[in-house]
Order: sequence, then structure tokens, then C-alpha cells
Amino acid sequence: DVGLEGFPHYMLKEIYEQPDSLTAAMRGRLSDVDATAVFGGLNLTPQQLRNVNRIVLTACGTSWHAAMVGEYLIEELARIPVEVEYASELRYRNPPVEQGTLLFALTQSGETADTLAALREMKRKGHPSLAICNVVGSTIAHEADGGVYLHAGPEIGVASTKAYTSQVAVMTMLALYFGRLRHLSYEAGQRIITQLRKLPDLVRETLEVNGEVRRIAAKYAHANNFLYLGRQFNFPTALEGALKLKEISYIHAEGYPAAEMKHGPIALVDQHTPSVFLMPQGGVYDKVMSNLEEIKARGGPVIAIAAKGDKEIARLADDVIYVPVVEEFLSPLINIVPLQLLAYHVAVHRGCDVDKPRNLAKSVTVE
Ligand code: G6P
Repeated sequence: DVGLEGFPHYMLKEIYEQPDSLTAAMRGRLSDVDATAVFGGLNLTPQQLRNVNRIVLTACGTSWHAAMVGEYLIEELARIPVEVEYASELRYRNPPVEQGTLLFALTQSGETADTLAALREMKRKGHPSLAICNVVGSTIAHEADGGVYLHAGPEIGVASTKAYTSQVAVMTMLALYFGRLRHLSYEAGQRIITQLRKLPDLVRETLEVNGEVRRIAAKYAHANNFLYLGRQFNFPTALEGALKLKEISYIHAEGYPAAEMKHGPIALVDQHTPSVFLMPQGGVYDKVMSNLEEIKARGGPVIAIAAKGDKEIARLADDVIYVPVVEEFLSPLINIVPLQLLAYHVAVHRGCDVDKPRNLAKSVTVE
């Protein structure tokens, strides 16, 4: 049995377990000799792996958000076209069958009915179909041709936290792996490995924001609407941050690509609607900043998740949560941590049942 070990809720315990669950996800999977990731269970021939020219990622819920990060990672690092499909849609679609398409089903539980059906449909059409899964021996792990286990340990909180970051870590390693089979140099591979090795400590450092996040949560806990805005690698982070808040606090929240909000969600902005901005250093920082200014100009409060040392942001945002500086491809793994904590503290503040939110189940085994 899994105990609370002094934590008030499983969700908080699982948020704090992330340095360890990430370590477990990477254990034995990073090879300095070949500057690549190593997976024992893909069960595909070297020829099949080299022939992959299209990857389809399918999932539901939080796992679908991990797949979205995977799309950015695999396209950027491995230059393979990726599509992300809701499993409930993919199972009833009839996508053209092309040689060289590889399917990954991402599922924490390995039991989600729609994800299982999508996997079966793709297998039937002859695509190699792999699972990225936490629960060993689950139905999807069993039916897939092979795959990767997360080794995150049991996740009790209905709102997924550590399984999500482990899925994103596995997507990062898969991007490295497919990159190294194609154009990525030894040196580039080695650089990614060095960054990945630092990840557990960086997440540990990120968890130090907890007190600050609790204070900010109390300030905004009475809002009825939240926007979560980010771009590129952190657009999926915005989706996942919004989902966490919705799931456990019952506050309406929308995740959106920061620039796209001017085509609709900006109409929601007023002094009672906070926007959470993901502001990592990197290519689109200035662009996100001008999106932030558009919100401020309309009187909306802004909570920014920004890199330590960012002085500019403090001038504009109402509240800033500072996180460690990382390369852009790792920023989704860092930036989601304060958003998990924000959802948690807002929900606790509102007296919600954090570990067992109403109407939700840990795994949805019916269609
Ligand atoms: C349920 C859970 C979510 C989860 C989704 C997919 O809706 O409440 O937390 O993300 O199912 O679950 P899976 O086990 O396939 O990752």
C-alpha cells in the first residue's frame, strides 16, 4: 500500500516525487558511448526503426498533452513529421495507411478504453504500434508490439502529475533516439544527455517555489476564469496547466497559444480574470512579452512563470514565479511544476477534494 508519508494529499506527494520519478524514467536509458537513448522494449528491427518516416501519437487527457510536447520535441530534434491524435477521434477515423508510420499510444494506466481501441485500429492497419505506459502488465502494454515503461511508481491522485513529467521525459529521450538514428550529431546528442542528467536536480530546485505559489494561489483563488498562455514547447504546458486547475478546483480555465488568444479568449479578459504566462528564455520570449502587454493593456492580472534572472518581467507582471534557467526543449518539464502547485493550492484554498475530484476517474475504461 502507498501511504501519504506526511503529505496532506497524494497529489502534493506525487508532485514532490518528480525528481525521483524522473530519475527512474531515465535510469539505464542514457548512453554516453553512443550519445543516445537506449530502450530495451521497442521490439522493432533496426531496419523498421530507420524506415520510420511518420509518427502518430495518440492519447487522452493529460497524456495527450504529453504527446503534444512530444510533437514539438520529435520534429525539432529528429526531424520526423509527427501527428497528435485524440484516441477517441483516431479510433473512428480512417487515416491513409502509409508505410513507415509508427504509432505510440501514451497512457499512464494502460487501460483507457479509447486509447486501447485506437491502438487496435492502427495495429489492424499494419502499423507498428508501441505503448508508453506506467502500469506494468496493463492491457495496452500487453497488446502493443512493444514500448517504454515510465517506472514512475503508483500515481494515486486522479489529476496526473508525475506520470505526465515522466511521459514528457520519455518523449524527450525518444526524440534524442530517433534524432541520433538520423541527422543529430554525436556532440548534439551528448549535449542533450548532459541536460537530461541535470533534470532531477532542476526539478528539485523548482519545487522551492511552493511557498510563493501558495501565496499567489490565495490571492487568485476566487477567480471564476483563468487563461493559461504559452508558445511553442510551452503551448502544451499551458493546456496542461489549465486542465490541472479545471480538474481539481472546478474553475474554468483555458489553455491557448499566447498569440492566438487575440482571436477569441481575450474577450474574457477583465480585472477578475488572471492570465498565467509561460515565459522561458528563448526564441519567442519577446513575442510572448508583447502578448502579455496586450493582456495588461486590458486590465487583466498576469502571473508569469519566468526564468531566474529575468528582470524585465517583474516590471509588467503582477506576480512572478521564478524557475531555473534551462534550454528550451527542457522547459516544459520545469514550467509545469509551478502550474501543478498552483492548481493544488487553489483547490485546497477552495476546499476541494484534491485527490478525488468530482465526476473524474483515474482511468476511463468505458468508451
Ligand atoms: C482520465 C484521468 C486523466 C488521464 C486520462 C488518460 O481522464 O482522469 O488524469 O490523463 O484519463 O489516462 P491514461 O491512463 O490513458 O493516461
